[in-house]
Amino acid sequence: MVTISATPSSRSGADYLRLANASTASGQPSPNQSLLPLSARVNAHDHLEVGGCDVKALVEQYGSPLYILDETTLRTACQQYRDALKQYYAGPTLAIYASKAWNCWAVDAIVKQEGLGIDVVSGGELFTAIKAGFSAEQTYFHGNNKSREELLLALEMGCNIVADNWLELRTLAELAQARAQSGETKPVPVMLRFTPGIECHTHEYIRTGHLDSKFGFDPEQQQAVFEFLSQQPQLRCIGLHAHIGSQIFELQPHHDLAEVLVRAFGEAQAHGLPVSQLNVGGGLGIRYTESDDPPSIETWVKQVCDALTAACEAHGLALPQLICEPGRSLIASACVTAYTIGSQKEVPGIRKYITVDGGMSDNPRPITYESVYRAIVANRMSAPQTETVTVAGKHCESGDVLIKDAQLPPTEPGDILVVLGTGAYNYSMSSNYNRLTRPAGVLVQGGEAEVFLERETYADLIRFDRLPERLSR
Ligand code: LLP
Repeated sequence: MVTISATPSSRSGADYLRLANASTASGQPSPNQSLLPLSARVNAHDHLEVGGCDVKALVEQYGSPLYILDETTLRTACQQYRDALKQYYAGPTLAIYASKAWNCWAVDAIVKQEGLGIDVVSGGELFTAIKAGFSAEQTYFHGNNKSREELLLALEMGCNIVADNWLELRTLAELAQARAQSGETKPVPVMLRFTPGIECHTHEYIRTGHLDSKFGFDPEQQQAVFEFLSQQPQLRCIGLHAHIGSQIFELQPHHDLAEVLVRAFGEAQAHGLPVSQLNVGGGLGIRYTESDDPPSIETWVKQVCDALTAACEAHGLALPQLICEPGRSLIASACVTAYTIGSQKEVPGIRKYITVDGGMSDNPRPITYESVYRAIVANRMSAPQTETVTVAGKHCESGDVLIKDAQLPPTEPGDILVVLGTGAYNYSMSSNYNRLTRPAGVLVQGGEAEVFLERETYADLIRFDRLPERLSR
């Protein structure tokens, strides 16, 4: 566990820069253990710099609030997954990006350039992944209620489909049969998602591996599913999948998961299914606060590889292709959200509120999961954090609080507040609540910034509004 020596009252935003364990073999910090993007620095103006760009200057140029995405951090995380898989597993491997964390053209394109595959969960995510150039073999389509139209899009692309339930399997069989009759000779590559029955410690909304979950086939349905698939020549069962949850720091559940998956893999082979891949899901947590202590990417991957190798040995099976699908740990720490501080309110003896120009619409995680974030004042990095304040958003909702009891230096309207670790499940879960426009996003590296998400305009907000004719009469 890394500690920051300064006591809260003498600590400054700059101290957060030191918060990363350098526990990887290369000595390079693991992005998921770093509170700030890896390129973060304090410059001569005492301002935060990310990707060589002054955050205050970025806000002046591109507006506020602003998602600032550090390309180096994202690429480093991709490389660490890729390299560790190669290092610790004797069989073939593939890391795929769980793009629900942040699916947009530029992010998908970077991940693709780094040689990762992609996990999509809707026609929209699939459409974006195709636009970013992912090939069919690199693409895995998840989801517990894929529509017929979504399945048809997936079949047209030829991507791998992770079948979740009986309705989907039967629909797929029917669609594949129809394709075969119209001359298609290639069978549809299908993976099977199972609920592994593994408990882990995370928020109940983001736990998926326990038996009482809406995702995947129950373990007792295994035999019937394998039998069904063995009679469907148009469906090629390429492997099995399970995912136990998200923001997990423990390693043991992944060990248990390997045992469950490998046992099922043996069963699938016994049914004559051509399975060659095991997908262990994602779930590695990140450091949102100084007290979070997740394992590094390398440690997590090593554990998964060792567990799968040991389970295969124990069951006398050849090593399958190992697939893992991280989302949060690839991208969360690569992004910070910069806001401009506005009004402040002191409730004597109770608390002081400072308000920013965004909130639950650009980061719904605090109000949804009571997620805890850290923030710093980007234009006064070495100022001691002597105040305890509540950072509120600007939405008409009392619960629109980004951080309760944040430690900050005294602030004034116009200061730039940067919330850390906002790359995962912020933009992808954002909304236009109260008709706020979504922020812009800039990609930063080597002192250059480029917009990868345009700021929404008021015109965008009414793009889909229509006035029924009788109202305009
Ligand atoms: N694979 C599957 C099948 C998943 O359902 C998920 C996440 C992942 C991979 C990636 O998990 P990660 O590596 O990101 O932990 N909105 C919530 C998180 C929901 C996670 C949903 N599934 C949040 O903001 O915490």
